[in-house]
Amino acid sequence: MSDAPEITPEAVDAAVADALAAFAAAPDTAALKAARSAHSAEGSPLARLNAQLRNVPNDQKAAFGKLVGQARGRVNQALAAREAELAAAETAAKLEAERVDITAIAPRGRVGARHPISLLQEEIADLFVGMGWEIAEGPELEHEWFNFDALNFAPDHPARQMQDTFFVDPVARHLVMRTHTSPVQVRSMLERDVPIYILCPGRVYRTDEFDATHLPAFTQFEGLVIDKGITMAHLKGTLDHAAKVLFGAEAKTRFRTNYFPFTEPSAELDLWHPTFPGGARWIEWGGCGMVNPNVLRAAGIDPEVYSGFAFGMGIERTLMFRSDVQDMRDMAEGDVRFSEQFGMVV
Ligand code: DAH
Repeated sequence: MSDAPEITPEAVDAAVADALAAFAAAPDTAALKAARSAHSAEGSPLARLNAQLRNVPNDQKAAFGKLVGQARGRVNQALAAREAELAAAETAAKLEAERVDITAIAPRGRVGARHPISLLQEEIADLFVGMGWEIAEGPELEHEWFNFDALNFAPDHPARQMQDTFFVDPVARHLVMRTHTSPVQVRSMLERDVPIYILCPGRVYRTDEFDATHLPAFTQFEGLVIDKGITMAHLKGTLDHAAKVLFGAEAKTRFRTNYFPFTEPSAELDLWHPTFPGGARWIEWGGCGMVNPNVLRAAGIDPEVYSGFAFGMGIERTLMFRSDVQDMRDMAEGDVRFSEQFGMVV
């Protein structure tokens, strides 16, 4: 075999040097695999030198065997080391490429916000439901009889006049956009059995200006209790509790005498809180009183047996003082940037 390599230390060193250089130069595991078959697998110079050992005279076999064996050992070691190095580098590169910055602000769509009047309306409803009351409803397009007559408004009461009430054509049908939630008092008394403990939140309409403190469409909540032995003390206790739940433990209420056709006696309800916008002061919150016997009679309830109290407040006004909203028009315009300030309560 003329092309068979001769085993010499130089030939072995050269094969080792070539193998080490090729491994070091391999840029990735695929290239290293190719370098391995060229320099350490069968047919490689080193393998061929190894194969020559059988031609070496017996007395030199041990020395040459050691020379080639050590060389193969060094090559295999270098191969394993380079393999580990490249695998580590490749894993690191992969991790870097797949890296996710969990602190980055994710791009997200705007989710919108519920309107603060809806939120407050639900909060008020919850407060009364928590005391065992029921939620009552009535139509916004209301019959004049429920809106006025059954509530003991005299036929010539100024509130009926065109400047306050939206009368709906044809006027002969006596339909109005309800000017308050009080007609639900009468509807509830007709529909339900006594005792009655109801709260009615809802939308009402008046021919008011659209300005910082008036809206032609706004929201009220009406309360009505009819039971035996109900007194003004129950009314005061109930409103005091509602004020504390909605505004905080420091809130106080007071009554000022007033007139409403559907209550007797009637009172204006004032609310005090130390941190109201503008400081600790009394603000007018709503109206209330003991249900007028004429209203009980209109709904078929005997005023000799039953008595009751009622109250009505504006929810926009409540929100104004609770959250320091200075212009009621913000509550009507439906700009989501306004609603977003009240948080993402659902
Ligand atoms: N309905 C009245 C209004 O809109 C408010 C009111 C006053 C309601 C006294 C009541 C009440 O239930 O007893 O101005």
